[in-house]
Amino acid sequence: MNTDAFTNHESNVRRYGRSFPTVFTKALGATIWDETGKPHIDFVVGSGALNYGHNNPTIMAPAIEYLVGDNIILSLDMYTAAKRDFIEVFVDSILKPRGLSYKIQFPGPTGTNANEAALALARKYTGRSSVMAFTNAFHGMSLGSLAVSGSASTKELGGVARHDVIRVPYDSYPNQTFDSAGYIDCVLGDPGSGIEKPAAIILETIQAEGGMNVASAAWLSEIQRICRKHGVVLIVDDIQAGAGRTGNFFSFEFAKIEPDIVCLSKSLSGSGSPLSIVLIRPDIDVWNPGEHSGTFRGNNLAFVTAEAMCKMWSDAQFTADVERTAVNVQKHLDRLVAKFPTCIEQKRGRGLMAGLKFRSQAVVTRVHDVAFENGLLIESSGPDRDVIKVLPPITITDEELDHGIAILDHALQEQANGH
Ligand SMILES: Cc1ncc(COP(=O)(O)O)c(C=O)c1O
Repeated sequence: MNTDAFTNHESNVRRYGRSFPTVFTKALGATIWDETGKPHIDFVVGSGALNYGHNNPTIMAPAIEYLVGDNIILSLDMYTAAKRDFIEVFVDSILKPRGLSYKIQFPGPTGTNANEAALALARKYTGRSSVMAFTNAFHGMSLGSLAVSGSASTKELGGVARHDVIRVPYDSYPNQTFDSAGYIDCVLGDPGSGIEKPAAIILETIQAEGGMNVASAAWLSEIQRICRKHGVVLIVDDIQAGAGRTGNFFSFEFAKIEPDIVCLSKSLSGSGSPLSIVLIRPDIDVWNPGEHSGTFRGNNLAFVTAEAMCKMWSDAQFTADVERTAVNVQKHLDRLVAKFPTCIEQKRGRGLMAGLKFRSQAVVTRVHDVAFENGLLIESSGPDRDVIKVLPPITITDEELDHGIAILDHALQEQANGH
């Protein structure tokens, strides 16, 4: 396998190529093949950007048709037919059935672009400069998103001071007994707390990069109540947990909250094509025309595939299958936790956004490597990188899921046997 082009010419910064040192060529559903023809089950799925699997035929068929028809590919934020169709289907298939009403902003195409836009808008709307963000948060690698991210290494990477960021404890941080929502409510209401009222609170309902930490429904609805009480904008960064990952379209549906701003990206296009949106409560949409602009905000191929993905959520069979798969994943992980207590400390995550917290980072590395040798892609997260993320496509077949879990089981067995 020739990897010279990467090792000789690509920057040291490359990461996934080092974790999976092979050259990939083809992919379908939950399976990705390398140049030698070896198949791998993919539980990384573009770090949550391929929730609907690789080359999902329902999503790709309209894209292929679109590509061969001299249709618009890039349009800045001009009006195009593909964009109109996406907006109409997103409103009718996703927002309306959930009783949600938002204006839609199209920022740059990556997740961090959506968060930067959301933070800027909340600051403009409230006239305040600071933002509350949580321990172990991850919001992206541009400067504003890095500032609200929790990890020490991401701060060092950006070289930014965390001005205007108030760090507060996430649900169950540092332990189950600490009432973090109560603390936030208290400091916001106490003129002696030394903490100024922020423009926004930004949160993930499941902190994926932070170690698959889950916020409870009660905590989320309490944070919403606190935001409303103190006039603070609630931003949910649903970039990794949204677009179907937890089993519902939005990750916050289970908590019955209605955030003021929602950021979506990653799997929004359904195809891996970059697309982000910021959903804005209509009265917060105080942008002036053109005030927040940029080039790649009109990826029409992504609009076409996103439209096809959104339509899938109107299909009762599809949603029932996703629910069933989520239950299966949880069952598999419960079994692994019970079977390998010396390796695994606990199950993490919710629905199809699942993970396993290990007792040691070294074991995670070995499990990762053995799994890869045997044809399974997994990645780790958390401040100590001791959590394995289990993110199969939400459309994975039972056979592919069973096969991937069997490879994981085998890798764990080798560790339990002391290999
Ligand atoms: C919750 C969350 N927010 C934001 C981002 C940043 O997205 P992007 O890498 O597309 O900028 C990520 C990426 O992993 C994420 O998980």
